[in-house]
Amino acid sequence: MTPDSAHDENGLSARGVARRRFLRDSGALTTGLATAGAAHAQMMATQPAAPAAAAPLAAGAQAPVRLNINGRDYEMLLESRVTLLDALREYAGLMGTKKGCDRGQCGACTVLVNERRINACLALAMTHVGDRIVTIEGIAPASGLHPVQQAFIAHDGFQCGYCTPGQICSAVALLDEARAGDASVVTADVTLRTPVVLSDDEIRERMSGNLCRCGAYAGIVAAVRSVANPAARPVADSVSNPVITPVSTSVATPVANPVADPPKAT
Ligand code: FES
Ligand code: FES
Repeated sequence: MTPDSAHDENGLSARGVARRRFLRDSGALTTGLATAGAAHAQMMATQPAAPAAAAPLAAGAQAPVRLNINGRDYEMLLESRVTLLDALREYAGLMGTKKGCDRGQCGACTVLVNERRINACLALAMTHVGDRIVTIEGIAPASGLHPVQQAFIAHDGFQCGYCTPGQICSAVALLDEARAGDASVVTADVTLRTPVVLSDDEIRERMSGNLCRCGAYAGIVAAVRSVANPAARPVADSVSNPVITPVSTSVATPVANPVADPPKAT
Protein backbone atom coordinates (compact mmCIF):
# COMPACT_ATOMS: atom_id res chain seq x y z
CA MET A 1 0.00 0.00 0.00
CA THR A 2 1.39 3.44 -0.99
CA PRO A 3 1.27 6.38 1.49
CA ASP A 4 -1.30 8.03 -0.75
CA SER A 5 -3.64 5.14 -0.35
CA ALA A 6 -3.94 5.67 3.49
CA HIS A 7 -7.04 7.61 4.65
CA ASP A 8 -7.76 9.60 7.81
CA GLU A 9 -10.89 9.55 9.93
CA ASN A 10 -12.64 11.82 7.36
CA GLY A 11 -11.82 9.45 4.59
CA LEU A 12 -9.21 11.78 3.05
CA SER A 13 -5.98 10.46 1.66
CA ALA A 14 -2.63 12.03 2.69
CA ARG A 15 -2.63 14.06 -0.56
CA GLY A 16 -6.17 15.24 0.16
CA VAL A 17 -5.16 16.38 3.65
CA ALA A 18 -2.25 18.35 2.26
CA ARG A 19 -4.49 20.02 -0.36
CA ARG A 20 -7.02 21.00 2.32
CA ARG A 21 -4.27 22.49 4.51
CA PHE A 22 -2.92 24.47 1.56
CA LEU A 23 -6.38 25.86 0.78
CA ARG A 24 -6.93 26.81 4.41
CA ASP A 25 -3.57 28.55 4.78
CA SER A 26 -3.76 30.42 1.50
CA GLY A 27 -7.29 31.54 2.39
CA ALA A 28 -6.02 33.04 5.62
CA LEU A 29 -3.23 34.80 3.75
CA THR A 30 -5.64 36.18 1.16
CA THR A 31 -7.95 37.45 3.87
CA GLY A 32 -5.04 39.14 5.61
CA LEU A 33 -3.90 40.85 2.44
CA ALA A 34 -7.42 41.99 1.65
CA THR A 35 -7.77 43.43 5.15
CA ALA A 36 -4.45 45.21 4.88
CA GLY A 37 -5.35 46.51 1.43
CA ALA A 38 -8.64 47.87 2.70
CA ALA A 39 -6.90 49.58 5.62
CA HIS A 40 -4.33 51.10 3.25
CA ALA A 41 -7.06 52.32 0.90
CA GLN A 42 -8.89 53.88 3.84
CA MET A 43 -5.70 55.57 5.03
CA MET A 44 -5.01 56.94 1.55
CA ALA A 45 -8.57 58.21 1.29
CA THR A 46 -8.16 60.22 4.50
CA GLN A 47 -4.81 61.78 3.49
CA PRO A 48 -4.80 65.13 1.66
CA ALA A 49 -4.19 64.75 -2.03
CA ALA A 50 -0.59 65.37 -3.10
CA PRO A 51 -0.14 68.56 -5.12
CA ALA A 52 -0.25 67.88 -8.80
CA ALA A 53 3.21 67.85 -10.31
CA ALA A 54 3.92 70.49 -12.90
CA ALA A 55 3.27 69.11 -16.32
CA PRO A 56 6.54 68.42 -18.10
CA LEU A 57 7.34 70.69 -20.98
CA ALA A 58 6.76 68.96 -24.29
CA ALA A 59 9.75 68.77 -26.60
CA GLY A 60 10.06 72.03 -28.47
CA ALA A 61 7.51 73.82 -26.27
CA GLN A 62 8.35 77.21 -24.80
CA ALA A 63 7.67 78.54 -21.34
CA PRO A 64 7.87 82.08 -19.93
CA VAL A 65 11.08 82.66 -17.99
CA ARG A 66 12.24 85.69 -16.03
CA LEU A 67 15.98 86.11 -15.58
CA ASN A 68 17.61 88.79 -13.45
CA ILE A 69 20.62 90.00 -15.43
CA ASN A 70 22.75 92.91 -14.31
CA GLY A 71 20.02 94.03 -11.95
CA ARG A 72 17.26 94.02 -14.56
CA ASP A 73 14.49 91.52 -15.07
CA TYR A 74 14.24 90.07 -18.55
CA GLU A 75 11.11 88.19 -19.60
CA MET A 76 11.59 85.66 -22.36
CA LEU A 77 9.94 82.60 -23.87
CA LEU A 78 12.41 79.75 -23.82
CA GLU A 79 12.61 76.08 -24.62
CA SER A 80 13.98 74.07 -21.73
CA ARG A 81 17.09 73.21 -23.73
CA VAL A 82 18.23 76.85 -24.21
CA THR A 83 21.54 77.49 -22.51
CA LEU A 84 22.17 80.52 -20.36
CA LEU A 85 24.70 81.66 -22.94
CA ASP A 86 22.13 81.64 -25.75
CA ALA A 87 19.53 83.26 -23.51
CA LEU A 88 21.95 86.11 -22.80
CA ARG A 89 23.02 86.63 -26.39
CA GLU A 90 20.00 85.70 -28.48
CA TYR A 91 17.09 86.58 -26.20
CA ALA A 92 18.35 89.33 -23.88
CA GLY A 93 20.50 90.91 -26.58
CA LEU A 94 23.59 91.02 -24.36
CA MET A 95 26.38 90.15 -26.79
CA GLY A 96 29.27 90.87 -24.44
CA THR A 97 29.41 87.26 -23.27
CA LYS A 98 31.18 85.33 -26.02
CA LYS A 99 30.65 81.87 -27.42
CA GLY A 100 33.95 80.10 -28.06
CA CYS A 101 33.79 76.33 -27.85
CA ASP A 102 30.18 76.05 -26.58
CA ARG A 103 31.25 73.01 -24.57
CA GLY A 104 32.86 74.27 -21.39
CA GLN A 105 36.47 74.26 -22.49
CA CYS A 106 37.51 77.82 -23.26
CA GLY A 107 35.89 80.08 -20.64
CA ALA A 108 34.84 82.72 -23.17
CA CYS A 109 31.28 82.51 -21.84
CA THR A 110 32.17 83.04 -18.16
CA VAL A 111 29.55 85.00 -16.21
CA LEU A 112 28.83 85.44 -12.53
CA VAL A 113 25.83 83.74 -10.96
CA ASN A 114 25.24 84.69 -7.34
CA GLU A 115 28.84 85.99 -7.26
CA ARG A 116 30.30 82.67 -8.48
CA ARG A 117 31.76 82.23 -11.95
CA ILE A 118 30.24 79.65 -14.26
CA ASN A 119 30.44 78.71 -17.92
CA ALA A 120 27.15 79.95 -19.35
CA CYS A 121 27.35 77.47 -22.23
CA LEU A 122 27.04 74.60 -19.75
CA ALA A 123 24.05 75.99 -17.86
CA LEU A 124 20.40 75.79 -18.83
CA ALA A 125 18.76 79.19 -18.63
CA MET A 126 15.65 77.86 -16.89
CA THR A 127 17.70 76.63 -13.96
CA HIS A 128 18.75 80.18 -13.12
CA VAL A 129 15.38 81.76 -12.50
CA GLY A 130 15.73 83.78 -9.29
CA ASP A 131 19.55 83.95 -9.48
CA ARG A 132 21.61 87.12 -9.76
CA ILE A 133 23.36 86.93 -13.11
CA VAL A 134 26.11 89.41 -13.92
CA THR A 135 27.70 89.66 -17.34
CA ILE A 136 30.53 91.85 -18.58
CA GLU A 137 27.93 94.55 -19.29
CA GLY A 138 27.13 94.68 -15.56
CA ILE A 139 30.63 94.43 -14.10
CA ALA A 140 31.46 98.10 -14.18
CA PRO A 141 30.03 100.61 -11.72
CA ALA A 142 27.96 103.43 -13.14
CA SER A 143 30.89 105.80 -12.59
CA GLY A 144 33.39 104.07 -14.91
CA LEU A 145 35.37 100.91 -15.41
CA HIS A 146 35.83 98.15 -12.87
CA PRO A 147 39.40 98.04 -11.49
CA VAL A 148 39.97 94.73 -13.25
CA GLN A 149 38.92 96.30 -16.54
CA GLN A 150 41.28 99.21 -15.89
CA ALA A 151 44.09 96.78 -15.12
CA PHE A 152 43.54 94.82 -18.33
CA ILE A 153 43.94 98.06 -20.27
CA ALA A 154 46.98 99.14 -18.29
CA HIS A 155 48.78 95.79 -18.63
CA ASP A 156 47.87 94.87 -22.22
CA GLY A 157 45.74 91.98 -21.03
CA PHE A 158 44.13 91.46 -24.42
CA GLN A 159 44.72 91.59 -28.15
CA CYS A 160 41.67 90.68 -30.23
CA GLY A 161 39.49 90.93 -27.13
CA TYR A 162 37.32 87.91 -27.84
CA CYS A 163 38.22 86.09 -24.62
CA THR A 164 38.38 89.29 -22.57
CA PRO A 165 34.82 89.47 -21.20
CA GLY A 166 35.20 85.94 -19.84
CA GLN A 167 38.70 86.70 -18.55
CA ILE A 168 37.50 89.77 -16.68
CA CYS A 169 34.45 88.05 -15.15
CA SER A 170 36.69 85.20 -14.10
CA ALA A 171 39.27 87.55 -12.58
CA VAL A 172 36.62 89.44 -10.61
CA ALA A 173 35.34 86.19 -9.11
CA LEU A 174 38.90 84.95 -8.54
CA LEU A 175 39.69 87.94 -6.36
CA ASP A 176 36.60 87.31 -4.23
CA GLU A 177 37.41 83.59 -3.96
CA ALA A 178 40.97 84.30 -2.79
CA ARG A 179 39.71 86.88 -0.33
CA ALA A 180 37.28 84.30 1.08
CA GLY A 181 40.11 81.79 1.54
CA ASP A 182 39.07 79.33 -1.19
CA ALA A 183 42.03 77.06 -1.94
CA SER A 184 43.30 76.02 -5.35
CA VAL A 185 45.48 73.03 -6.25
CA VAL A 186 48.61 75.15 -5.81
CA THR A 187 47.64 76.56 -2.43
CA ALA A 188 50.28 75.46 0.09
CA ASP A 189 47.92 74.87 3.03
CA VAL A 190 44.39 74.00 1.97
CA THR A 191 43.21 73.74 5.58
CA LEU A 192 43.44 77.48 6.13
CA ARG A 193 40.40 79.62 5.44
CA THR A 194 42.32 82.86 5.54
CA PRO A 195 42.67 85.09 2.47
CA VAL A 196 44.99 83.53 -0.09
CA VAL A 197 48.00 85.52 -1.29
CA LEU A 198 47.73 85.52 -5.05
CA SER A 199 51.13 84.57 -6.39
CA ASP A 200 51.56 84.30 -10.15
CA ASP A 201 51.17 80.53 -9.83
CA GLU A 202 47.89 81.01 -7.98
CA ILE A 203 46.66 83.42 -10.63
CA ARG A 204 47.67 81.13 -13.50
CA GLU A 205 46.01 78.15 -11.86
CA ARG A 206 42.82 80.02 -11.01
CA MET A 207 42.59 81.53 -14.50
CA SER A 208 43.41 78.24 -16.24
CA GLY A 209 39.80 77.75 -17.30
CA ASN A 210 40.01 80.83 -19.49
CA LEU A 211 41.94 80.32 -22.71
CA CYS A 212 43.32 83.12 -24.86
CA ARG A 213 44.01 82.28 -28.47
CA CYS A 214 46.06 85.45 -28.83
CA GLY A 215 48.35 84.36 -26.02
CA ALA A 216 47.92 87.49 -23.91
CA TYR A 217 48.58 85.51 -20.76
CA ALA A 218 51.51 87.57 -19.51
CA GLY A 219 49.39 90.71 -19.54
CA ILE A 220 46.41 88.92 -18.00
CA VAL A 221 48.48 87.64 -15.07
CA ALA A 222 50.04 91.07 -14.59
CA ALA A 223 46.60 92.69 -14.63
CA VAL A 224 45.16 90.35 -12.02
CA ARG A 225 48.30 90.64 -9.91
CA SER A 226 48.13 94.41 -9.98
CA VAL A 227 44.59 94.42 -8.59
CA ALA A 228 45.24 91.64 -6.08
CA ASN A 229 48.47 93.17 -4.78
CA PRO A 230 48.37 96.90 -5.48
CA ALA A 231 51.53 97.50 -3.44
CA ALA A 232 53.51 95.16 -5.67
CA ARG A 233 52.45 96.87 -8.84
CA PRO A 234 55.32 98.40 -10.82
CA VAL A 235 55.53 102.13 -11.17
CA ALA A 236 53.96 103.55 -14.30
CA ASP A 237 56.48 103.76 -17.08
CA SER A 238 54.47 105.51 -19.73
CA VAL A 239 51.21 107.16 -20.51
CA SER A 240 49.92 103.85 -21.88
CA ASN A 241 50.80 102.03 -18.68
CA PRO A 242 49.56 104.30 -15.91
CA VAL A 243 49.31 103.38 -12.27
CA ILE A 244 45.69 102.82 -11.37
CA THR A 245 44.29 102.98 -7.90
CA PRO A 246 41.53 100.45 -7.54
CA VAL A 247 38.63 101.62 -5.47
CA SER A 248 36.82 98.34 -5.09
CA THR A 249 37.07 94.92 -6.64
CA SER A 250 33.57 93.80 -5.90
CA VAL A 251 30.99 93.61 -8.63
CA ALA A 252 29.08 96.80 -9.12
CA THR A 253 25.53 96.72 -7.86
CA PRO A 254 23.48 97.34 -10.96
CA VAL A 255 20.81 99.95 -10.70
CA ALA A 256 17.44 98.25 -10.51
CA ASN A 257 15.62 99.09 -13.68
CA PRO A 258 12.97 96.48 -14.39
CA VAL A 259 12.27 96.25 -18.06
CA ALA A 260 9.25 94.28 -19.12
CA ASP A 261 10.20 94.23 -22.76
CA PRO A 262 13.97 93.83 -23.12
CA PRO A 263 15.66 94.17 -26.45
CA LYS A 264 15.50 91.07 -28.58
CA ALA A 265 18.38 89.89 -30.67
CA THR A 266 17.63 89.86 -34.34
S1 FES B 1 31.95 78.87 -24.88
FE1 FES B 1 31.57 78.20 -22.87
S2 FES B 1 33.46 77.38 -22.23
FE2 FES B 1 33.79 77.85 -24.33
S1 FES C 1 42.73 88.43 -26.65
FE1 FES C 1 42.32 87.31 -28.44
S2 FES C 1 41.63 85.42 -27.67
FE2 FES C 1 42.33 86.44 -25.92
